[in-house]
Amino acid sequence: MSDPAAERILIVYATTDGHTRRICDRLKQVMESMGRQVTVALLAEAETLDLHGFDRVVMGASIRYGRHQPIVAEFIARHQALLESRPSAFFSVNIVARKPNKSTPETNPYCRKFLKSIRWQPRLSAVFAGKLDYPSYRFVDRQMIRLIMLITKGPTDPKAVVEFTDWAKVEAFGRQVCGITA
Ligand SMILES: Cc1cc2nc3c(=O)[nH]c(=O)nc-3n(C[C@H](O)[C@H](O)[C@H](O)COP(=O)(O)O)c2cc1C
Repeated sequence: MSDPAAERILIVYATTDGHTRRICDRLKQVMESMGRQVTVALLAEAETLDLHGFDRVVMGASIRYGRHQPIVAEFIARHQALLESRPSAFFSVNIVARKPNKSTPETNPYCRKFLKSIRWQPRLSAVFAGKLDYPSYRFVDRQMIRLIMLITKGPTDPKAVVEFTDWAKVEAFGRQVCGITA
């Protein structure tokens, strides 16, 4: 496209507690500040859109008990050709990524495993640390996550609410997505 600022970018996401949506909203802000037209949609609702009308696609998903939402791999399998035909990117959100040595697509175990398990190879990928919000979790989930945090030396106070996300890293990713050359 001759005028990159006229590009339309689609950001699709899967979330359980809403934090991935907040990351998408920040990406949208960054991309709009660069003049792009950005649509953010839940993966579950993306099928109703004319996907071919977008110049770039970004997909984001969070981890829950070791896995991304199943809809993520399903969507990729259904739209592989489309994803491969334009500059596209993927990001994963999880708590393990709060550790600097597990914060890249190559070093984060979930992202690595996921990218190996699908046939689509995104042009760009990223991993962002998510949010811990013990008070909002159900009892069993809270105890499970506290146990994982105890083992991995994270916060275990049941009242803790901690946002580990590096927003500067999110913003940098937004700029990088705009810069992927076709
Ligand atoms: C029930 C539950 C299970 C989780 N399991 C994992 C996990 O296995 N590994 C991990 O790194 N993070 C795990 N997390 C952390 C989430 O990935 C993190 O809170 C993220 O911000 C959630 O994003 P979302 O609100 O978009 O779903 C878990 C969180 C919850 C509530």
